[in-house]
Amino acid sequence: MVVYLIGAGPGDPELITLKAVKALNKADVVIYDRLANEELLNHAKDAKLIYVGKKAGQHYKSQKEINQILIDNGKTNPIVVRLKGGDPFVFGRGGEEILSLIEENISFEVIPGITSSIGVPTSIGLPLTHRKISTSFTVITGHEDPTKKEKQVKWDYTADTLIILMGIGNIKENTKEIMQHKDPKTPACVIENGTLPNEKIIFGTLENIADKEINTPAILIVGNVIEVYKTIKKFKDDNTQQ
Ligand SMILES: C[S@@+](CC[C@H](N)C(=O)[O-])C[C@H]1O[C@@H](n2cnc3c(N)ncnc32)[C@H](O)[C@@H]1O
Repeated sequence: MVVYLIGAGPGDPELITLKAVKALNKADVVIYDRLANEELLNHAKDAKLIYVGKKAGQHYKSQKEINQILIDNGKTNPIVVRLKGGDPFVFGRGGEEILSLIEENISFEVIPGITSSIGVPTSIGLPLTHRKISTSFTVITGHEDPTKKEKQVKWDYTADTLIILMGIGNIKENTKEIMQHKDPKTPACVIENGTLPNEKIIFGTLENIADKEINTPAILIVGNVIEVYKTIKKFKDDNTQQ
């Protein structure tokens, strides 16, 4: 008996590993999230499917409930797949799920996925590091657990490129905080629905990106690498139009 914790990749159903597809092929049960592309379930033809993500007007399962579903299924089925968007260990609460399996002595294996934080910018041709422009990047949550006594996110990051996940709801407050540490004219861009047919890219600067119309899921990127990307994008756009 084993529970596979699998990263489904950023959205495009082809951006999943072969190892993950093999695990889906043999799964008895698949427990999946909102951000895992439902097309991937076609790899698990004979499996029982359990949806634990949020849907408009429906009850959203708490992490405690999800952990219990994993435990109950892990104890009664030979192969269980827990399918999560992106990579399970990047803002995916994968660590908590593994710890709850360990408490019940249930075997597990983690299969990494392409995280949206890197895969989404990379797929459009936006380099996160670039010689002479960016020597580092930091991935930050834009929605820190509000029940924490003291905030861990201080926004004083020194990395050249900032990648902010789950930050659209708080984009005004977050960009204001970042401007305490970075030039307000620093280029910023948002990528909505990255790697999917309805992908949208929105450009701005730290001081005005919050005023744009943005839909979720989306990531916010801040840094001068966006200027490099504009050159790459222009080439791509010019060549697509021909
Ligand atoms: C709960 S986090 C999960 C991240 C995931 N574990 C990963 O590695 O990509 C969800 C956030 O990921 C980002 N995200 C996930 N998929 C995305 C996509 N296709 N396009 C843009 N942002 C995405 C958004 O910032 C969203 O709020």
